[in-house]
This record gives sequence, C-alpha cells and structure tokens, in this order.
Amino acid sequence: MGRIFCIANQKGGVGKTTTAISLADGFAKSSAKTLLIDFDPQCNATSGLRMQPLGSSPYVKTGENCPPLRDSVVPSGMHNLDVLPGSRNIAEVDVLLRSRPEEAEKILRQIRETAGAYDFVLFDCPPSLGHLTQLALFASAEVLIPMQCEYYAMEGLTHMGAMVKKVAAQKPEDLAFAGILLTMYDAGWELTHEVDREVRNYFGENVFDIVIPRDAAVSEAQAHGMPVMDYSPRSRAARAYIELCMDILDRRTVI
Ligand SMILES: Nc1ncnc2c1ncn2[C@@H]1O[C@H](COP(=O)(O)OP(=O)(O)O)[C@@H](O)[C@H]1O
Ligand SMILES: [Mg+2]
Repeated sequence: MGRIFCIANQKGGVGKTTTAISLADGFAKSSAKTLLIDFDPQCNATSGLRMQPLGSSPYVKTGENCPPLRDSVVPSGMHNLDVLPGSRNIAEVDVLLRSRPEEAEKILRQIRETAGAYDFVLFDCPPSLGHLTQLALFASAEVLIPMQCEYYAMEGLTHMGAMVKKVAAQKPEDLAFAGILLTMYDAGWELTHEVDREVRNYFGENVFDIVIPRDAAVSEAQAHGMPVMDYSPRSRAARAYIELCMDILDRRTVI
C-alpha cells in the first residue's frame, strides 16, 4: 500500500490546492506512481493542471452495474501522475452521506481499490469540515494542514485538529499527522513571525521546518495551468516545495 495524504484546512485560500499539486508533481518526479484526487467542487486542482472537471461525480455511483471509480482516473500528461478530476457536483456526496452515512463505506472501498495501484495518493480537500473532508481523512493515512500566518489561524487549527482526532479515533488504521505547513510566508511582516512562534510553541515538532514563501511565480504558474516546479523551477516557492517533498519522502511523523 502506498502513502495516502489528505491536504486539508477548513479555511479557503491557505494553499491547499497549490500544495496538493506541487507535492503530486514532486512525488511523480521522484519516479513514484502518483494519484491526485480533486475533492473540491471548485475543481482548482483539476484546472490547475489544465484538465477538465468530470461531468458528474463518480462517487455516488456505487451500484453493481456502475463503472468502477478507477475508470474515472485520467492521465495528467505528466510522467507518473494521474488525476481523479473534481466535479462541480461532488457536493452530492455530502448530501448523500448526510442522509445515508452507511454509503461512506462503499465509497471508501472504491477509493481504496483505486488508490491501491499508486505509491502516493493526495486528496485536495474543499474548505470545510464537512463529509467530503471527513471521507478524505478516513481514506488517508497522513494529514497535512497548510496554513497562512494570519490572525485567527490558531483558532482554525484547533477545530481542524479536533476533527482529525475524531476521525483518527473512529478508524482502525492509523491517521498520522504529516504536519502543519506555513504557506505564503512573508518574512517581512512582523505578524508572520508572531504566528510562526505561536504555532511552533503550541504544535512543536508537528510543524514543518520548511516554510513556503509568498511568491508571484505561484499565481503565474496557476494561470498557465502548470505546477510551479515546472513553470518556474528556480523560483523560491518551487525550491521550497522541492525541499518539502524530500522531507516527506525522508520521514513520517506520528501524532
Ligand atoms: N506561496 C504562494 N505565494 C503566492 N501566492 C500563493 C502561494 N500559494 C498559493 N497562492 C495563491 O493563493 C491563492 C489560494 O491558494 P490555493 O492553493 O488555491 O488555496 P486553497 O486551496 O487553500 O483555497 C491562489 O490564487 C494561489 O495562486
Ligand atoms: Mg483549493
């Protein structure tokens, strides 16, 4: 079984999708067969790789005569990287699980079967703590939380941490804390240093040493539908993401 990561934070705009795309790109470049699963109805991970969202969500079709989930996987055109594209109506999963929570097991079985063919799988989660994020946490073995150094960041992390602990207590397999990643890091701002200190005081070793700098190359890469490591390999953000990939490949931290 490969390593399955959930990239989650209930706040939007903190760098989840950028991190999911960059890690997927980095792992694929390390010769590992990698799958990126876009779990957000905004489909930014899909469009960020210049791909099309699926017309309908494949997760609610789990009946006997339905095609298996793996049939919805699409090659990205980049070596070793496949994508399970997002769909605008993936929120149907949320609605379905609210009324019929027992369906989660069927969906998880399909996800596990699809993930089984890969060395690395990454979920790009929506900005909420709803059923989609919970499902991704259930399917994952490690959770990575990108966050921006801003006011109230700690408060959000506490809610996220509680959700991770709740899911970890409910599932038989381990759910490890891959770590908190400080993104859009602006060393010129005093607030950045304050939040950095506070988060490290509180979460200690669970915060990655590496931070991702704020870098215009990220938005430019996004506009070109390319991972930043391919669009601008020498940019500060690309270098930081390469270091992060190497760090994750080297180690595994546990809650
Ligand atoms: N390191 C960075 N430097 C500059 N802009 C960034 C960086 N990371 C992300 N962004 C930009 O911030 C916005 C939100 O990032 P995104 O990864 O989509 O966050 P999320 O998935 O959490 O909503 C995007 O427009 C993205 O281009
Ligand atoms: Mg996103």
